[in-house]
Amino acid sequence: ANSYEYIQVTEPRPGVAQVTLNRPRALNALCTPLITELNTALAALNASPTISAIVLTGSAKAFAAGADIKEMAPLTFSTAYTTSFIESWSQLTSALKKPLIAAVSGHALGGGCELALMSDILYCTTTANFGQPEIKLGTIPGAGGSQRLTRAVGKSRAMELILTGRSFSGEEAERWGVAARAFPSHEALMEGALATAETIAGYSRVAVQAAKEVVNKSQDLPLRDGVEFERRVFHSLFGSRDQKIGMKAFAEKKKAEWSHE
Ligand code: CAA
Repeated sequence: ANSYEYIQVTEPRPGVAQVTLNRPRALNALCTPLITELNTALAALNASPTISAIVLTGSAKAFAAGADIKEMAPLTFSTAYTTSFIESWSQLTSALKKPLIAAVSGHALGGGCELALMSDILYCTTTANFGQPEIKLGTIPGAGGSQRLTRAVGKSRAMELILTGRSFSGEEAERWGVAARAFPSHEALMEGALATAETIAGYSRVAVQAAKEVVNKSQDLPLRDGVEFERRVFHSLFGSRDQKIGMKAFAEKKKAEWSHE
């Protein structure tokens, strides 16, 4: 049963959870209660022994139109500062060990674009509408956009997008490498996202978690340290049962039956 007000959690494929942002009247604007629900749901899915991968999506019309402007409008510096406004958003992905695929249709603006950029794999429709329009509101991206978008598209393009507030399409997102893939329709996008999640859910959860961990380290570490970190984790996987299972199955030309140990 779904006990949330602003999101829906389902299990459309074995081992795959789908979290759907569901605040249609505000185009999924990310109010604080929505983020709290999202944190709660992702923490529960992270702890679930049966879920291996998560798809995060919105509606065909909007992934999310940003942080909630009506909530932010009266905020003062001291309240934002002392309550660490937006900091709870970084829990969304930093604490999540399982792969998160964002499936973006329609608007992904401001905090919605930033939320999509927090995912491990970003899929979108060709007509998706991404952007960081905060400059038009007299402010700047506050949920990592200036950092993650810049890493994704390079400084000059990120500056242009953030300083002008202009949108970019899903087709551009794919061309620039922001999105791994762009699909011709919302239906094709959801099918693609769930199929990828199902593929990932078919592998050893131990190896999947390790793979996500080492790729993410590349964003924080210099190359030499990152390569060394990867090798340490690679070595450690020789201590897993699934490495033995996977390599034995290859030699015997059989399908691996993972123990997730
Ligand atoms: N916050 C609060 N409410 C929002 C919202 C937002 N970010 N985006 C849309 N809504 C609400 C609208 O106010 C409207 O509500 P009412 O019917 O009660 O007036 C409802 O959603 C539908 O929106 P529109 O009528 O505007 O729909 P549209 O199809 O004409 O336009 C849109 C769609 C272009 C996305 C337009 O809604 C829009 O520009 N939204 C704001 C986008 C934006 O600036 N986002 C950045 C927010 S700042 C931020 O995110 C800070 C950060 O970095 C964390």
